[in-house]
Amino acid sequence: MFTELLAVLVIAILGCACSFIKTPPSSVCGSPGGPPFTSSRIKLKDGRYLAYRESGVPKQKAKYNIVLVHGFNCSKGEPGDDPSGSQELAEELGICFVSFDRAGYGESDPNPKRTVKSESMDVDELAEQLELGPKFYVIGGSMGAYTAYSCLKYIPHRLLGVALVVPAVNYWWPSLPDNLAKSMLKKLDIGDRMAFWVAHNFPILFHGWMKQKLFKPSPTITGQWSRETISESDLEIMEQKINSPAHRSDEYKRKTTQQGVYESLYRDVMVVFSNWEFDPMQIENPFPNNEGSVHLWAGREDRICQVEIQRYVAKMLPWIKYHENPHGGHLFCAIGDWNDRIIKALLLGEDPEYM
Ligand SMILES: *[C@@H]1O[C@H](CO)[C@@H](O)[C@H](O)[C@H]1NC(C)=O
Repeated sequence: MFTELLAVLVIAILGCACSFIKTPPSSVCGSPGGPPFTSSRIKLKDGRYLAYRESGVPKQKAKYNIVLVHGFNCSKGEPGDDPSGSQELAEELGICFVSFDRAGYGESDPNPKRTVKSESMDVDELAEQLELGPKFYVIGGSMGAYTAYSCLKYIPHRLLGVALVVPAVNYWWPSLPDNLAKSMLKKLDIGDRMAFWVAHNFPILFHGWMKQKLFKPSPTITGQWSRETISESDLEIMEQKINSPAHRSDEYKRKTTQQGVYESLYRDVMVVFSNWEFDPMQIENPFPNNEGSVHLWAGREDRICQVEIQRYVAKMLPWIKYHENPHGGHLFCAIGDWNDRIIKALLLGEDPEYM
């Protein structure tokens, strides 16, 4: 930690010299000079707009409503970007998917007061205004899983079931044993480790940190993934995706962070590594009478949200149905029919086979 401390000190000093702490203005959708709105949206109680997309079968006909929560550097976007299932499955089972841009992403207004808690409040209001019924399902992938944890904590009465898919981890969760957190942090790339540490300890300096050129930047936050930071299987999947015809359009990529990386990406990192309002390992079972189920999906080769931490969470929350894919990493759901299998496990209790 000494190097990190020193680094932060240097940065703090630099911060006095330039306008280090000043965060950039965001270019809000619909504001003068800002990007236009093109999606459906709702207005939240605090005045922010939240953009959403419905897919699968129309909700009037649906037997199941599933709210999908996208990960880091993604948005409600196009099919395949959130953990959405296939159209065939949606029709077979009668599923309406509702995905939305998390605050600051895509076409949803930034939320300068964004926290782990505020994310579940957004989901609650979205479900209310879209009339998804008294209860619904939630699937949160990767960074989007902190929203799903937040739903488990704050709106359990509105849930029918939840899937946490390769969920984001926070090395500063109170119930995480120190030695486990430390050993997992040590496995990270030094650039990630320093950035996460600054995000946790000095969020006010985080924007400045991301701009600095003195120390190694975070490969995860800047999207510079390589053999050093992710598993072989994840790299292969990334290459496959980039070369596939269905790869996201440039337009889509631009839209994800069109309101500025500060309000979308950086705030995401600051929130996920903040001191959460609650300890996820103390969450109470939302379904004490087995009236629903909560699943956690992990990839054994995941080097971003490490399996050792996922196992620990599952051990602490024995009511979670834990699934570990022995042959995959962080992106294992991006190939094959994994999203469908995850949905079937959630809705029908079908356990998949690992091939
Ligand atoms: C975000 O994703 C796009 C691809 O969709 C990629 O070009 C970009 O580098 C990513 N940015 C970060 C910061 O990960």
